[in-house]
Amino acid sequence: MPSSSGAVNILRGVDLQIGAGEAVGVVGPSGSGKTSLLMVLAGLERASSGRVEVCGVDLATLGEDGLAALRRRDIGIVFQSFHLIGSMTALENVAIPLELAGASDAEDRAAESLRAVGLGHRMTHLPGALSGGEQQRVALARAFAARPRLLLADEPTGNLDRATGETVMDLLFSLRASFGTTLMLITHDPALAARCDRIVSMADGKLSP
Ligand SMILES: Nc1ncnc2c1ncn2[C@@H]1O[C@H](COP(=O)(O)OP(=O)(O)OP(=O)(O)O)[C@@H](O)[C@H]1O
Ligand SMILES: [Mg+2]
Repeated sequence: MPSSSGAVNILRGVDLQIGAGEAVGVVGPSGSGKTSLLMVLAGLERASSGRVEVCGVDLATLGEDGLAALRRRDIGIVFQSFHLIGSMTALENVAIPLELAGASDAEDRAAESLRAVGLGHRMTHLPGALSGGEQQRVALARAFAARPRLLLADEPTGNLDRATGETVMDLLFSLRASFGTTLMLITHDPALAARCDRIVSMADGKLSP
């Protein structure tokens, strides 16, 4: 992966297959490469070598537009720090990726997705007027709105207290169960990782089962 400080080898010899519908928990110390792995799978960073296939597509065959289209169609992402657009309402935050994907009923689907996370009464609120747990539920609604085949979650409860985190994770697991979504969940919380079908550990850029 190139950076201003020169090439840095962050992921080394990572060999991971996630089956359709499977939930895999990724654990490992800070700096071990978990977020880097997520960025590569999301097509937000390019692997300098090796092969990355997501939803049946070799990412090397896609340009930036192709990667963006794949993300809009097939991949939902939830980050620790919510990543909502502060000047847009909850409804607009959820609707915008659907609009970009060309959906004519983006607002209706966004509203339905917000109701599914229990935020039907918060649609016109800006993120700044929502609690952390509510903001993460908006992010969940956004991630699931397009019914992605793959959900990538990076420490989704890292900024939440335990009770709120549990509510958010109950929602995440219930949504993925109803849609059959494949999940890669990065977490420091062993109890959370244990909710996945399988756990892999990352250390120093390498994965072990
Ligand atoms: N763009 C970049 N350029 C150079 N080095 C980077 C870049 N992004 C991450 N790194 C380095 O790569 C290593 C792995 O980082 P990464 O963010 O993937 O770790 P992580 O396992 O997600 O850690 P944490 O649990 O703290 O989130 C770290 O040593 C980090 O400093
Ligand atoms: Mg990380």
